[in-house]
Amino acid sequence: NTAPRRAWTDLVRDVPDFPKPGIRFKDITPALADPQGLAQVVEALIAPWHGAGVQAVVGIEARGFILGAAMAQALGAGFVAMRKPGKLPARTLSQSYGLEYGKDCLEVHEDALPAGTRVVIVDDVLATGGTLGAALALCARLRLDVQGIGVLIELEALAGRARLPAQVRIETALRV
Ligand code: PRP
Ligand code: MG
Repeated sequence: NTAPRRAWTDLVRDVPDFPKPGIRFKDITPALADPQGLAQVVEALIAPWHGAGVQAVVGIEARGFILGAAMAQALGAGFVAMRKPGKLPARTLSQSYGLEYGKDCLEVHEDALPAGTRVVIVDDVLATGGTLGAALALCARLRLDVQGIGVLIELEALAGRARLPAQVRIETALRV
């Protein structure tokens, strides 16, 4: 079979003016819907962390759940959800943050993982870095051993990487 293998990056589409006018949204749903696309996405996300001894993947609502659970299983790790306010049933820690388009808050169960657990944080997009900054803060409050951050798409123009601590390893599959 000489047909060129379609790359997952060709299955990401731009949606203009979502969720607000002037925002060009990177929609990964076509990549996830494609069997090879999904496999490539997961492979790209886990590749940097082989041998890092990752014990749990921390996924950020909402697309970080999809990516993070698949990563966790592929890495032989557990999965922990960081959720929007009021969604987690037991006692939580909360961290508010500024967003590219608005303000929000992330929560995690205060007993989600033992202190010292080696984790990787995952989300779909690194934009301004506000979301991942809040996730790092929650991991610090849980005294987790953060190996780094994995994101599928980094929007370089928004310089989110520069707003995150320089010592944190950030692995991105696609820079646009
Ligand atoms: C989007 C995206 C990232 C975040 C990145 O999520 O999924 O989580 O923005 O932006 P930042 O780097 O400027 O913080 P959003 O908050 O829109 O919510 P959703 O994932 O629940 O759709
Ligand atoms: Mg998000």
